[in-house]
Amino acid sequence: MEGTRHLILRGDSREMRRVERESVDLVVTSPPYPMIQMWDALFSGMNGKVAGALSRGDGERAFELMHDELDIVWKRTCSVLREGGIACIVIGDATRKLGGAFRLYQNHSRVVSSFVARGLQPLPGIMWVKQSNKPNKFLGSGMLPPSAYPTLEHEHILLFRKGLNRTFSTAAEKQRRRRSAYFWEERNRWFSDAWVDIKGERQRIGGEQMSRRSASFPIEIARRLVCMFSVQGDTVLDPFLGRGTTAVSAACCGRNSIGIEIDGILRGVSVRRLSGSVKECSTYSARRLENHMEYVARRRKTGNELRYVSRKYGFPVTTSQETDIEVPVLAAVAEPHEDCLDASYS
Ligand SMILES: C[S@@+](CC[C@H](N)C(=O)[O-])C[C@H]1O[C@@H](n2cnc3c(N)ncnc32)[C@H](O)[C@@H]1O
Repeated sequence: MEGTRHLILRGDSREMRRVERESVDLVVTSPPYPMIQMWDALFSGMNGKVAGALSRGDGERAFELMHDELDIVWKRTCSVLREGGIACIVIGDATRKLGGAFRLYQNHSRVVSSFVARGLQPLPGIMWVKQSNKPNKFLGSGMLPPSAYPTLEHEHILLFRKGLNRTFSTAAEKQRRRRSAYFWEERNRWFSDAWVDIKGERQRIGGEQMSRRSASFPIEIARRLVCMFSVQGDTVLDPFLGRGTTAVSAACCGRNSIGIEIDGILRGVSVRRLSGSVKECSTYSARRLENHMEYVARRRKTGNELRYVSRKYGFPVTTSQETDIEVPVLAAVAEPHEDCLDASYS
């Protein structure tokens, strides 16, 4: 498999100067969530009116002003996405008491409106259910009705397509697509509209303040989305890179990536994380193959032999679409040069 390149930029995605129009095949990202307190200062820095609206207790206005800033990024995101490309936005809603009133701020529906207004097609999305065992997870008036509220234990993974379905016309493109297929049993798990098997991320870097600022999503979310909605050799963009989860996932799965992060410290964390990701990524690839072999063994036990054979690995697969699968195995990430890191595969 050919090498991949990962561009990790420090900057403000509202500008996105270094990303060419129609050059990106997939977007995987999670923005700062409007009306979640940890992001108040960031949004106030982007638009001075945010702090005023919050201090007046005008939640609706603050919510709109924050989304206005995200809209600028979504506009750029849509213009750098190729026809047929897909955008995956991981976003949670927010609950907050302002001006004496507790309410829900529906970030997900505001983001849907923004993408639809830009002409993208909304696709069936995924609910990421991340159950919490915390005793304080319940909101409101406890055991006394009627002012208690369901806990927010899910986030939305919103999916959009730019234009019509992507086409693969040359023999080389078709082969690249077939190499990037996923296993039948992976399809059955990944393409469910509720992901209940992925826990929230424990933030492990540099102390409490940094943990709160990074708000990473679990790498399994990004890896799945990359495998589901792009092919090997594609370019994946994350305009809110944080600790670089999307860049590592892209490298892991044989895709190129571009990440933009406004915070210089986090950008440095991403570079180091990607540089040190070889073991984690090669283990992930090996695990995919082992999981498949375990699936084959379970099928055999029930007397259900699989009909097709993988050309590369020689093991059985369920459908003819899986016969050319090649799972990339990351072998090395070269020293960063300028803003780039190059990855190679065994
Ligand atoms: C929810 S976090 C994303 C975390 C990321 N998915 C990860 O796994 O680490 C949002 C990130 O966007 C960054 N950010 C906020 N506004 C930005 C902007 N205008 N341009 C680029 N990055 C921005 C924040 O510093 C933060 O790291």
